[in-house]
Amino acid sequence: MESKFVINGQKPLSGTIKVKGAKNAALKVFPLALMMDEPIKMINVPDIEDCHRAQEMLVALGHEVKDLGGSVMQIQRKSKVCVNLPADLVNKFRAAVMFVGPLLATCGEVYFPHPGGCVIGATRPIDMFLDGFAKMGAKAEILENSYRLTAKKLRGAKIFFPKVTVTGTESLMTTACLAQGETILENCAMEPEISALADLLNRMGAKISGAGTPTIKITGVDKLGGGEYKIIPDRIEAGTFAILAAASNSGEIIIEDCEPAHLGALWALFDKIGVNYELGKSSIKIKPSAKILAEDVVTHEYPGFATDLQSAYTVLMTQAHGSSLIHETIYDRRLLFTDTLTQMGADIIMADPHRAVVNGPTKLYGRKLVIPDLRAGIALIIAALIAKGKTEISNIYQIERGYEDLAGRLKNIGADIQKI
Ligand code: EPZ
Repeated sequence: MESKFVINGQKPLSGTIKVKGAKNAALKVFPLALMMDEPIKMINVPDIEDCHRAQEMLVALGHEVKDLGGSVMQIQRKSKVCVNLPADLVNKFRAAVMFVGPLLATCGEVYFPHPGGCVIGATRPIDMFLDGFAKMGAKAEILENSYRLTAKKLRGAKIFFPKVTVTGTESLMTTACLAQGETILENCAMEPEISALADLLNRMGAKISGAGTPTIKITGVDKLGGGEYKIIPDRIEAGTFAILAAASNSGEIIIEDCEPAHLGALWALFDKIGVNYELGKSSIKIKPSAKILAEDVVTHEYPGFATDLQSAYTVLMTQAHGSSLIHETIYDRRLLFTDTLTQMGADIIMADPHRAVVNGPTKLYGRKLVIPDLRAGIALIIAALIAKGKTEISNIYQIERGYEDLAGRLKNIGADIQKI
């Protein structure tokens, strides 16, 4: 029987919640193990389903993954295994695409199905990955629903991303480390996870400059050494918990082990809507506010307002006084969850697939929900925590893909949430 969350809403929330290592940082480090013989030590690894899938992928590709306890993992290549990426794993998470480049660079061939994970992008295309690998000399064979890439030796290339892509930037930056010659990537994503990945690769012997800016230059090297990497705090978790605290507005909540500097766009919004917050070096304190005001938001690549925070912010706007426009510019399905919010009592009008107007404040009522994807899921949990009555939430695998021990951490601040 598949497990569910049962939440009784409107409990006052207060206390401390700790942020885990960033899912979208950790998932880009596991594949590096394919590119070196020495071990990689990862610290502050979140204990989440997507990381378990990445570890299973490494084992399937001939590596030993040792859990040293205390969120520390050690990965060591045991045998040079160049096989097809296991389809059942690739279909479970989008970041599986990060294993393609390292295999291509070290084995000269890789066969894989179209990567899965969230269904938020129409097909979550990988055209920019394929185009980048082709520019580096790979031959791509596009089959029914899978790809075969081959390359004798990858060569450095000049690649311009027509759209800003986070994993596209990370994948080609990583792969170019072992290509021959110089690669210039232009119109790159600038997320903090990208800078952290480049710092790690440089400590492993890579030659990368410009990460965190739109232009990244990589000079290929013959080999990479092992390394140790403390995963940066998950800025999306930290921002989501800050929004939860503002929406619940029922007590003082302290969010710890986070990096407030990665959430500038959220603090700018909080200033406008009247959230009572204080930023520490690695903590955020949210206190009850007299009144939350409505404010429009437009999602944008980093350092703009993160699309991964849009769903939580939309729930906050159902409690804000006034009318706000939510403009989701990155994905074409990330506002679909507002249907469910409306069924809970929210007053939301979908203007078009990318824009919704929220009128608040409205009372929300608990009901039976199914989680569509990771970030919509956490938003519906926030809605359930502030709604009147009981909410039953199924398909919580989607939540457990990205949030470690969510029920436990929410119980810790007073939420009435049971996993059954
Ligand atoms: C990363 O996805 C994150 N995932 C996403 O978080 C996040 O929402 C997204 O960046 C944007 O910030 C990971 O890091 C594992 P993109 P990514 O490539 O890299 C289009 C979560 O909940 N595109 O920046 O896959 C794409 O369809 C996840 O943790 C192409 O058209 O996103 C989208 O519209 C969800 N062709 C836009 O670019 C390509 O080849 C941005 O996507 C690649 C992407």
